[in-house]
Amino acid sequence: QELQMNLEQIEKGGFDHFMLKEIYEQPNAIKDTFRGRLRVDEGIVKVSGVEDNLQKFMNADRIIIIACGTSWHAGLVAEYIFEEFARIPVEVEYASEFRYRNPVIRPNDVVIAISQSGETADTLAAIKLAKERGAFVFGVCNVVGSSISRETHSGAYTHAGPEIGVASTKAFTTQITLLTLMALRISRAKGTMARADYFRYLQELELIPEKVQQALETNLEVQTIASIYKDAPNCIYLGRGYNYPVALEGALKLKEISYIHAEGYPAAEMKHGPIALIDERMPVVVIAPKQEHYDKIVSNIQEIKARSGKIIAIVTKGDTQVKALADHVIEIPETSDALSPLLATIPLQLLSYHIAVMRNCNVDQPRNLAKSVTVE
Ligand code: AGP
Repeated sequence: QELQMNLEQIEKGGFDHFMLKEIYEQPNAIKDTFRGRLRVDEGIVKVSGVEDNLQKFMNADRIIIIACGTSWHAGLVAEYIFEEFARIPVEVEYASEFRYRNPVIRPNDVVIAISQSGETADTLAAIKLAKERGAFVFGVCNVVGSSISRETHSGAYTHAGPEIGVASTKAFTTQITLLTLMALRISRAKGTMARADYFRYLQELELIPEKVQQALETNLEVQTIASIYKDAPNCIYLGRGYNYPVALEGALKLKEISYIHAEGYPAAEMKHGPIALIDERMPVVVIAPKQEHYDKIVSNIQEIKARSGKIIAIVTKGDTQVKALADHVIEIPETSDALSPLLATIPLQLLSYHIAVMRNCNVDQPRNLAKSVTVE
């Protein structure tokens, strides 16, 4: 037993938990996702599975993304990215809903299935259904040789390395990275993105690992914030555009490892109901980097402040406007809107991690959950 414990400590590489180790692995994990695929000097993005099926992607009338949980959130980010970059309509479906309906699949639809483990039963069943209906199914998996990677027609691996913590962290950011590479390649082939923008994205993507590293340096501040809100019974997460799915992901992370009830919303939806929940006891995490519709998110923050809610804001370095309103700010480096989820998600992972540790929860193996959900 002692040997077992020592082995586990070695595996954790000096970190207290696998989750924390995996959070800190993200700069390198993202680099591994790029490896051989992003060649900035030559202006090339190459993902072999996409290269082999380029015509299918170029002719796609629609992309249907199927996934569960965190992978579904990565799919939502990809929806914004594919529509913006490649101008292909995207639908993102929970695999469990997709498979129990009678989904309409047309000849030029491309299905992308996203799964860290590659073993999620609902996703696997949805893939089988999509194949039966004649769709071309592309897998985005982390685990090499997994059932989903074998069941799909083609695919690409995220190369994040083993993810042990039940709460998905590096799988999420590497899924977004890979899907961004795919969207860039397809947009280049289709000519839907201006040349200058394409090259700018390539350069910015290459800088992301370094910026994730900087985002990780907020750890101590995040820990202090965690100590203030660790006993909150509820928490709300808000974001807009590319960062709306990040709000959902932040809330899921908090729920699953700290057992605090949390909800994510698109910030503008607050006025349609959830704002009634706001009082001086409600922490509201707002993802508010300097990006399109920044002024709108500033007014969402004002609305929450007016009702005495407590604001924890994720802002771009140097921000002054949100800083003046928020109770706490966490700064992340500047990047373009489409890449900001890769940075904004980092402090949210750390926040849920620290809160769970402070509540004495089993961070790596939360109650009632398994790493891969192989039951339907
Ligand atoms: C997230 O932290 C989860 N534990 C869970 O939602 C997970 O993302 C989901 O079960 C899907 O798993 P997969 O990516 O392995 O298919």
